[in-house]
This record gives sequence, structure tokens and C-alpha cells, in this order.
Amino acid sequence: MNRAKVVFLGAPGTGKGTQAKKLSAKYGLPHVSTGDILRNAVKMGTELGLKAKTIMDRGDLIPDEVILGIIKNRLVKPDCKKGFLLDGFPRTLAQAEALDSFNSVNCAIQIDVPDDVLVKRLVLRRSCPSCGTMYHLEYQLPRVEGVCDKCGTALVQREDDREDVVKSRFRVYVEKTAPLIGYYQGKGVLHNVNGNRNVEVVFSEIVQILEAAGDVNDEG
Ligand code: AP5
Repeated sequence: MNRAKVVFLGAPGTGKGTQAKKLSAKYGLPHVSTGDILRNAVKMGTELGLKAKTIMDRGDLIPDEVILGIIKNRLVKPDCKKGFLLDGFPRTLAQAEALDSFNSVNCAIQIDVPDDVLVKRLVLRRSCPSCGTMYHLEYQLPRVEGVCDKCGTALVQREDDREDVVKSRFRVYVEKTAPLIGYYQGKGVLHNVNGNRNVEVVFSEIVQILEAAGDVNDEG
């Protein structure tokens, strides 16, 4: 039975989204990224998107009550009954406590990467605004400069990946999100993973953690 209810913790750029996407493909669990939901709302020009854009562009957090509304609606969807992979949520103690009140987490994966490596990952990240494929100007170049290999759309840099905004995202992480490490450690569900290694090496360690806990079945 797939019942993994996983939270990914880690500073901006540690690879939460990269690893959650790979696990979702392997185990058929939904990848729930609050950042992706918000960016999609910005792209669609919804009321939420218009409000969220200014906050995201300066690297601050969206108010807890807004995020909790989004996540409650998402986690009641039928695909989340068998478990879920939460990427970017919770991000404050209030969000973590609220999550516990309606759905308990059985695994928290904390990905660690030194700050100087993270700045380079984020500032040189480019992504496809259409299909979401990620690239990096040093490690993962597209075949044709500036163009997505998969769908041909022009690649963009996220507004919040500018170096000044990256630094404020780190500050917000230390102040508001890092305390969640102790929170999940206290619940006995925390696993630390060194994210400063090849994507596949990090992935296989996370797979081992989930399989040792007996929460997942391979669907791949
Ligand atoms: P969000 O989208 O969640 O951003 P983040 O947490 O800052 O994380 P990132 O997406 O930048 O990084 P990641 O850890 O997923 O790394 P990735 O796999 O992409 O949030 C954005 C904003 O939305 C927030 O600032 C806030 O305003 C708002 N928001 C979202 N959720 C919220 C919430 N719950 N409450 C309030 N506000 C919220 O990888 C990064 C790069 O590194 C990529 O180029 C990738 O290819 C590369 N990479 C990944 N792994 C490796 C590796 N092992 N080796 C080399 N390169 C790697």
C-alpha cells in the first residue's frame, strides 16, 4: 500500500522539486508544490496570482491562511488518498501545526547543501514557462541556447532567482522555515540527506529511506 505522506524541507535550491518529481514518477504519488501552484496562478492572472506575485518577487512568504486554503483544497483530492509528496509546504510552524490537525506526515526529508552552492544553482537556473522543465546554465544546458528541448518554448529566469532576492529567500528560510527541522525531529520522522551530490545519488538515498520505512511500493 502506498501511504507515504512526505514533506521535503531544505533551503531554496536544495533540490526539493527535483527529487519530488522523480519520486512522483517512480511511485505514482502526487507531487504537491505550493511554489508551482502559486506560479501557475501568477501565469493565469488569477486574483491569487496577482496578490502573490509581488510577495514572491521579493522573496517573502505568502500569508499562512492563504497557503492553508490552497493546501486543504489540494489534499482532499482523490489522488492524495494514497499519500503525497509536499514540496515547499509547510514553511512556518503555524503551517506545520495546521497540517498536523488535518493530515499527519510520516516522513520529513531535510536536504542540506552549502549556501555558496545554492546561490550558483539558483542564479543560473532557467526553466520552461510552458512545460516546467528545468535547466542550468552550467550543468544542464538545453540543446539550443535559450529554448526548451521538450516543447520549444523560450526559457525564462524566475524573478526570485535574481541574486538579491535569493539572499532574502535564504534569510526568510533561516528565520521561518528552519525551525521545522526541530519540529519534525521531535516527532521522530526526520531524515537528513546530503544534497550536495549528483541528483541520482541523492535520489537513491531518499528511495532507500522511504522503502526502509515501508511506506511506498514501486510503480515504475
Ligand atoms: P518555491 O517554489 O517552493 O521555492 P523554494 O523553496 O525557494 O525552492 P526552489 O524551487 O527554488 O528550489 P528547490 O529546492 O525545489 O530546488 P530545485 O529542485 O528547483 O517557493 C517560491 C515562493 O513561493 C516562495 O519564496 C514564497 O514566496 C512562495 N511560497 C511557496 N510555498 C509557500 C508556503 N508554503 N508558504 C508561504 N509562501 C510560499 O533545484 C534548484 C536548481 O538546482 C535547479 O536548476 C536544479 O536543476 C538544480 N539541482 C537540483 N538538484 C541538484 C543536484 N543534486 N546537483 C546539482 N544541481 C541540482
